[in-house]
Amino acid sequence: MNKEKYTRFKDISVSERILNTVFLLTIGLGYLMALANMYYTHQGLDGKAGLSIEDIIISYHGGSNQTRLGTAVSGIMKSNLRYASDKDVILQWIHHGANEPEYNEKIAPILNRDCVLCHTPTINPSLPDLTHYSSVSEVAYAGGATIPTLVRVSHIHLFGIAFILFFIGKIFLLCNMNVHLKRVAVVIPFAAMLLDVLSWFITKSTPSFAYVVVYSGALMGFSMGLQILLSVYQMWFYSRKTTEI
Ligand code: HEC
Repeated sequence: MNKEKYTRFKDISVSERILNTVFLLTIGLGYLMALANMYYTHQGLDGKAGLSIEDIIISYHGGSNQTRLGTAVSGIMKSNLRYASDKDVILQWIHHGANEPEYNEKIAPILNRDCVLCHTPTINPSLPDLTHYSSVSEVAYAGGATIPTLVRVSHIHLFGIAFILFFIGKIFLLCNMNVHLKRVAVVIPFAAMLLDVLSWFITKSTPSFAYVVVYSGALMGFSMGLQILLSVYQMWFYSRKTTEI
């Protein structure tokens, strides 16, 4: 293959290097801000300070202990349950998505027996109404991202990040390195981003996928960071030292 026909960093003007560099550094700073933003949006959801895998699970999948009903039967309302084991029945139901058939079968009998004597609008209008499914499901909503939210965030992510990765990749291609490695290296951040976005949707139903969200997100950041650093390095230091392409 004729190497000469491809442009490398040593072939581009200083003005172009300056433009590339300010672009890459700005994107790098933007990425750090995105990380900080992610930290502030997700941290502490599990009740503990700092970002943990549990926070990611709650963000996308929701958590049964985050619901008003789940918290109540685990805490202040626990003593109203005639059988302590009913607490787990209620938590399981919330965990499975608080559906109506299971409500009618298992949950309504418990609530009617132990709770509605106080939780009836005619008796205590200020308390959550536990007499029928629609109002019980309100306090049993486990949170987690809704599909419309995920779709909205995904399309912004895919459009925005594809642009960013494309321009970073275009600059990175001017690096002097093993061509096979380079071909793989430009695909990795795109693949990681697609996997990340896909795993948000899967985490909604399968909480253990939160690990894939974290690892693919980290892989995207890492590979993008490496492209930026290597490009800036070669642009200013490496390409001038070598006479080869
Ligand atoms: C003796 C009356 C009484 C019974 C029985 C009772 N509750 Fe309550 N419940 C209350 C009162 C009073 C509050 C308000 C407590 C507060 O806000 O401090 C409350 C609050 C709640 C809340 C709202 C907590 C929040 O997030 O603000 C839930 C949910 C709840 N109860 C569920 C239940 C369940 C489930 C049962 C049956 C196992 C039950 N309660 C039985 C009196 C009762």
